[in-house]
Amino acid sequence: MKVLVATEKPFAPVAVEGIKKVLDEAGYELALLEKYTSKDQLLKVVADCDALIIRSDKVDEEVLAAAPRLKIVVRAGAGYDNVDLAAATAHNVCVENTPGQNSNAVAELVFGMAVMAVRNMYNGTSGTELKGKRLGIHAFGQVGRNVARIAKGFGMEVSALDPYCPVEVIEAAGVKPVTDLKKLYAENDIVSLHIPATAETRGSVNCELITQLPKNGVLINTARKEVMDEAGLKEALAKRPDLKYVADVKPDNAPELEEAFAGRVFFTPKKMGAQTAEANINAGIAAARQIVDYLRDGKAPFRVNK
Ligand code: 3PG
Repeated sequence: MKVLVATEKPFAPVAVEGIKKVLDEAGYELALLEKYTSKDQLLKVVADCDALIIRSDKVDEEVLAAAPRLKIVVRAGAGYDNVDLAAATAHNVCVENTPGQNSNAVAELVFGMAVMAVRNMYNGTSGTELKGKRLGIHAFGQVGRNVARIAKGFGMEVSALDPYCPVEVIEAAGVKPVTDLKKLYAENDIVSLHIPATAETRGSVNCELITQLPKNGVLINTARKEVMDEAGLKEALAKRPDLKYVADVKPDNAPELEEAFAGRVFFTPKKMGAQTAEANINAGIAAARQIVDYLRDGKAPFRVNK
């Protein structure tokens, strides 16, 4: 069996070693395609692969059609909006993710970005502290829960909204459940976004919602750029000169925003949330193990397509 690790944004080398070890033990071959710059490169190497490990790499009908031996794709990470699930099902390919494996890394970055925002992007002026401030967590999945845990260490008051998570789970984490989305924004100094990009959420964080934030509010996005209404974000920042937007997922209108709102917006040059050795090891090795479990025993506990 040949397993391709196709990562435009490579894992830490130590994670690739770990993946290789799991595959070696199973008697599988590892093929590596890192930092590729064109889809053609991927189309060429998937041709003789039985399994595929990816990150945010796109797997669409064209990729699936180019991989007649492919049986499973594992997205080493949480969000699988980069995989065409219906096309995978049509090609009889199982798709899994590795939930929770990189969530601490993303949650830690939220605080890196939060401190940067409240210290005025480290521009030398006097800022504020996180202690005693209110944090609203928009979606209480694995990342949201890690954000809540860390926020308590900072001495923040934490609340969360998640229509898909039982209120008891939020309460058990010592977090205040909120059911009104506008209130989540209106009643928190910082809101951290953790919603996936779905038909329901795309473009849903709009001007009306963002401008609910109280004075000097900060919106942090380590989720997906697609959940933002980018024109609405621009409008909100123009209307409210006290607000800040910091994101690990650069909007398409980033240059425009950086020019118009210098000092109030910050974007990482490349998505960095899951870029730690630990997250790469956890997610990469989990992906390799899931592939072995599926190809050997037909087990797919994290299957996301039907
Ligand atoms: C995820 O969905 O797991 C995160 O957004 C990380 O994505 P990445 O593996 O492309 O860094």
